[in-house]
Amino acid sequence: MAQQDWWRSAVIYQVYVRSFADGDGDGTGDLAGVRAGLPYLAELGVDALWFNPWYLSPMKDGGYDVADYRAVDPAFGNLAEAEKLIAEARELGIRTIVDIVPNHVSDRHPWFRAALQAGPGSPERELFHFRRGRGRRGELPPNDWPSQFVGSAEPVWTRLPDGDWYLHLFTPEQPDLNWAHPVVRQEHEDILRFWFERGVAGVRIDSAALLAKDPALPDLASAPDPHPFVDRDELHDIYRSWRAVADEYDAVFVGEVWLPDTERFARYLRPDELHTAFNFSFLSCPWDPERLRASIDTTLAEHAPVGAPATWVLCNHDVTRTVTRYGREDTGFDFAAKAFGTPTDLALGTRRARAAALLTLALPGAVYVYQGEELGLPEADIPRDRIEDPMHFRSGGTDPGRDGCRVPLPWAAGAPHAGFGGEPWLPQPAGWASYAVDRQSGDPASMLSLYREAIRLRPAFGDGPLTWLPAPEGVLAFARAQGSLCVVNLADTPADLPPHSRLLLASGPLDPRGRLPKDTAVWLHG
Ligand code: GLC
Repeated sequence: MAQQDWWRSAVIYQVYVRSFADGDGDGTGDLAGVRAGLPYLAELGVDALWFNPWYLSPMKDGGYDVADYRAVDPAFGNLAEAEKLIAEARELGIRTIVDIVPNHVSDRHPWFRAALQAGPGSPERELFHFRRGRGRRGELPPNDWPSQFVGSAEPVWTRLPDGDWYLHLFTPEQPDLNWAHPVVRQEHEDILRFWFERGVAGVRIDSAALLAKDPALPDLASAPDPHPFVDRDELHDIYRSWRAVADEYDAVFVGEVWLPDTERFARYLRPDELHTAFNFSFLSCPWDPERLRASIDTTLAEHAPVGAPATWVLCNHDVTRTVTRYGREDTGFDFAAKAFGTPTDLALGTRRARAAALLTLALPGAVYVYQGEELGLPEADIPRDRIEDPMHFRSGGTDPGRDGCRVPLPWAAGAPHAGFGGEPWLPQPAGWASYAVDRQSGDPASMLSLYREAIRLRPAFGDGPLTWLPAPEGVLAFARAQGSLCVVNLADTPADLPPHSRLLLASGPLDPRGRLPKDTAVWLHG
């Protein structure tokens, strides 16, 4: 495959910097920690790293509230260090993807501060969505839009003492930008260049389908179609001009596009728009053979006409960790269904997560691995008084939020804080050390060894199409190029393996008769 097509089948590791490794001992992960962890990532065999936002931020939403895109937050390091990290990773053959959050900025961003200062009707306010309220004295929000933090009853408008309201689809500390304004567009193209000039190979686009708003800001109830702020046609024009910038640098995009309509989703992946987008249908899919197969088929079918590769994601910094989810009665993921104390069987979930890893890494396209997934970390129960995620607070305390999948990584079983560094910003639960990298490294049966081996062998599956093979009910079996097969058994009874010359890798032991047990996957050479 040509060098510039690396992203079509890459394994991309998501680094949540705050929780990866703490180089300076203050309890917050940082760039020094990531630099020290590069050999680990190289050994894992990943092609690229996607970093959650590392920019200057008051951290009201884990860094998705950016005060300055051209500065690294001092809690993480500084710009020179980011440049070193990008270069050092590249020397190890690992590319860097940064996260750009174009829908909103922090309320501490100089633009928003200037807009507050300048007052109603000022040009500074035109970079955002400021409006007068409804009601006799403007005491009611300008429209009825719901918060994008699911389960939140809080309004998306905040009123200022001067009477203006401003729009924020997320928290009040994340005011939405006005993408109809040419200065907003120009600034973001400059930001892209800023990072591409520093050797970044790609950009993840946060909330990519939300930027454009109906300029009339109509009520959703009275003007639902086209939607006033989701998936508007104007977005495609924005991404076409971004693509032109990326092409100058051979850089690539991955869009965070949560859209149920597969035809609308694929429009973002047309050849002159985004290279890839996250596949949330697969991420949300329950551990069920028909549903998984349907999700894979739909994904491949929706990508084919636009020629874009699929992406496969089992988890990220927003969703419940895979081993916990797969051990629950409801194995799908749904933001609205998150609740405290949902029971799980971690042994079962881990077995399934191992099988899911082999399934995912055998599929055609790019695969994302979220830090800690390769260690089989479960979702942690965060004591309520330690939760930081605004999703929890904005739900009125009913939603556990997303901190449970953001707990600092365990590196060394015998070290304080499992080798993360200083006292972690989120508490590590009891038993966390048993997942430590040093415990798993030498153990051929560990999750880490499975991921290392699978990523090493994955090129055997090549870049070609997927062909389903006849298989008993509940068994997923497919062939890829070069005679590689993947078989996953989700049925209650053990399954015979199809004819093969070699067993490449198994997520768990075969039964004494050489059959594939329930919730187990194998890679074979046909
Ligand atoms: C995306 C991010 C999430 C963040 C939100 C607002 O969904 O993944 O973590 O809270 O955007 O920026």
